[in-house]
Amino acid sequence: MTKQRLKLGVNIDHVATLRQARGTSYPDVVTAAAICESAGAQGITIHLREDRRHIQDADVYELRRTVDGTLNLEMANVREIVEIAAEVGPDEVCLVPEKREELTTEGGLDVVGQRDAMASTVGILKDAGIKVSLFVEAAADQLSASRDIGADYVELHTGTFCDATGDEANAELEKLISGARTASDLGLQVNAGHGINTANIDRVLEMPHLDTLNIGHSIVARAVFVGLETAVGEILDRMAAYGGGRL
Ligand code: PXP
Repeated sequence: MTKQRLKLGVNIDHVATLRQARGTSYPDVVTAAAICESAGAQGITIHLREDRRHIQDADVYELRRTVDGTLNLEMANVREIVEIAAEVGPDEVCLVPEKREELTTEGGLDVVGQRDAMASTVGILKDAGIKVSLFVEAAADQLSASRDIGADYVELHTGTFCDATGDEANAELEKLISGARTASDLGLQVNAGHGINTANIDRVLEMPHLDTLNIGHSIVARAVFVGLETAVGEILDRMAAYGGGRL
């Protein structure tokens, strides 16, 4: 069996952050997405937040028209955004928890605790022909609940591992590895994301069964120095070493 290549979804939210900081029309997210795709990224990820702090509604519609690869829309489980998603029809939606005061997404979804509300949204999105991913911690109960309510993918939250050092990082990585195994055994496709950069990616690649890594902040930050195309290329070069992780 030929192994499928590990895919990269570039999260371009922070290109929009720079634009929104001054209320300008630049830098243009459509151009950014095109550069990422021509550099070899298989997908573009955007998060339409309730507070619209970076990506705007018009961006979502424009990117739907222009992105050739996979368009992955991250969003909270709120009616207004679910309606936009169903209308726009991204290839994938990744449901995430969202708090207004947070700097970035904190923690994974509580699929167990919010099972009915999640199941109803997963149904709406799947009826609209959209693949659904749930952003969760690598915990067995959250993974089986994700499978039970019909998710196609889980995106395992790598943020705690990426921020940790020493023994704590080792322990967090073991949780991610066992979470990826459990998710795959449940028949879920496995993505991972949050906080991944060139300093920690080699260890993230120890995770088995990975389909896609969603990486944003570190790529956009690196692009300030080397340009977006090179920044995407650097990450893809590192990802090319993926040998299937620790099975
Ligand atoms: N995946 C999810 C579900 C996220 O919420 C984010 C942040 O928007 C990312 C991936 C990308 O994280 P980072 O910007 O730290 O690479």
